[in-house]
Amino acid sequence: MDGRADTLAGLPPASAFAARVAQAGDQRLAQGVAALVAQLARLIAEAQLTRDDMRAILAFLTEVGETCSEQRQEWVLLADTLGLTSAVEAQMAQRPAGATPNTLPGPFYRPDAPMRADGESISLDAKGGPLTLRAEVVDLDGQPVPGAQVEVWQANADGLYENQEPDQQPEYNLRGLYRTDAAGRVTIRTVRPAGYPIPADGPVGRLMARLGIALDRPAHIHVRITAPGFQRLTTHVFDASDPAIDRDPLFAVHPALLATFDPAPKGGFTCAFRFVLARARPGADAQ
Ligand SMILES: [Fe+2]
Repeated sequence: MDGRADTLAGLPPASAFAARVAQAGDQRLAQGVAALVAQLARLIAEAQLTRDDMRAILAFLTEVGETCSEQRQEWVLLADTLGLTSAVEAQMAQRPAGATPNTLPGPFYRPDAPMRADGESISLDAKGGPLTLRAEVVDLDGQPVPGAQVEVWQANADGLYENQEPDQQPEYNLRGLYRTDAAGRVTIRTVRPAGYPIPADGPVGRLMARLGIALDRPAHIHVRITAPGFQRLTTHVFDASDPAIDRDPLFAVHPALLATFDPAPKGGFTCAFRFVLARARPGADAQ
């Protein structure tokens, strides 16, 4: 044994691990993995983990990996449903008080949605209850942000996105890009979205079911707003009346993102929503 091995012998594995990676070239990676190992060692002690527990955990993680394919990312679903994605989003995109909160974009975003004229509908098949979303984009002082790009995407009245059923919905159905006018306003015509469940047929869905966690997301419209000089905002507008509003399995609901879909005099619904952008931070990216 050399002197180094003598020093490490007998240390708890987590401490020995941290010592072994202390000279690694990538110190961010080394410290991250060592911190993870230390947290897991504490968890093993606190929860009095058994060999059977360990086998069950490894079998679960194996199944999560085996469920992944070109069309499905079960690891992302696991991170989302454990609240990890939302925690990272909150940390990466801290907003000043009064700014609309940032949220995860979710798995159904497409970066190539077509441009729409003010007042044009994104519902290409006209199925569902008509909804007019009157959006206003302002800065923290309440001043309008003209020329902001407002991108929206949503599920239809059955809770399904266009790219989930490409044979039944027209391409780019319920997706579009708009631009705010001189008053920072834009009118988006669409249909009222329905909520939808996250996938229940894989290991993550089965775990959540065993834990008694509901899998249904409350109805929402995804919105991403980009404007020069401002941090990009990626967020949700949630239907406050949805019965699942208090149990979003992805932890994206925030009081500032609740909207009411009011019946319109001529039928359908209207919703007015004000988005408050934060100024870009010097030296930071547009996130
Ligand atoms: Fe969604």
